[in-house]
Amino acid sequence: MFITFEGIDGSGKSTQARMLAEALRGAGHDVVLTREPGGSPGAEEIRRLVLEGDPDRWSAETEILLFTAARRDHMERVIEPALAAGKVVVSDRFADSTRMYQGLSRGDLRGLVDQLHRLMIGREPDLTFIIDMDPETGLARAKGRMGREERFEDFGADLQHRMRAGFLALADEFPARCRVIDGNRPPDEVGREVAALALASLG
Ligand code: ADP
Ligand code: TYD
Repeated sequence: MFITFEGIDGSGKSTQARMLAEALRGAGHDVVLTREPGGSPGAEEIRRLVLEGDPDRWSAETEILLFTAARRDHMERVIEPALAAGKVVVSDRFADSTRMYQGLSRGDLRGLVDQLHRLMIGREPDLTFIIDMDPETGLARAKGRMGREERFEDFGADLQHRMRAGFLALADEFPARCRVIDGNRPPDEVGREVAALALASLG
């Protein structure tokens, strides 16, 4: 089973992905916890190219290619082998992030993102948790973590608002696999809801 976490920066995806991996391991599942961009050595190299440096370093189209190249490597080397071995894969972000960030942030490029996805990735998660929260709180949380990777956080509050709306629309577009989770609660409370839904899906 392939499970992904999506949502705006600072919504608590990484925290929840970690907690879910632990909960599933506790229930006896073999879990691979991974993230995007990155998750394999090659994709982590691409991560540095896209997340560090001048925000105008790449055109929107080039960025779609870079994120998709990273995802292809991550799929080939980590995700597909783990799923084939019967493991549960939990990924902090996946293709929905490209649909949102590259698809919506600099003009409407969603069609291009989807075409490239069909050509090069061609797989959707079985279950996607969209952690929903107030954009200002998310931005404050994301900024609280210092680091060199500020690429998208730099675009600020307006982008966070549009991304939040985009993720909610995505949940309507893919209702079979998406679950919207209220992220404005203590981590343990969010984690209990997420774990219960995931365990129910795993059967
Ligand atoms: P994301 O991966 O979505 O950017 P993180 O899991 O890294 O989010 O969380 C961002 C920051 O907010 C971290 O400092 C984390 O400890 C904190 N945090 C995560 N979940 C919660 C929560 N439910 N309530 C309060 N703070 C949280
Ligand atoms: P991430 O490390 O998950 O950041 P955060 O924890 O702040 O949510 O992702 C880094 C940034 O990469 C984030 O701003 C979203 C962006 N991103 C894209 O623009 N496209 C993508 O396809 C992916 C996977 C991430």
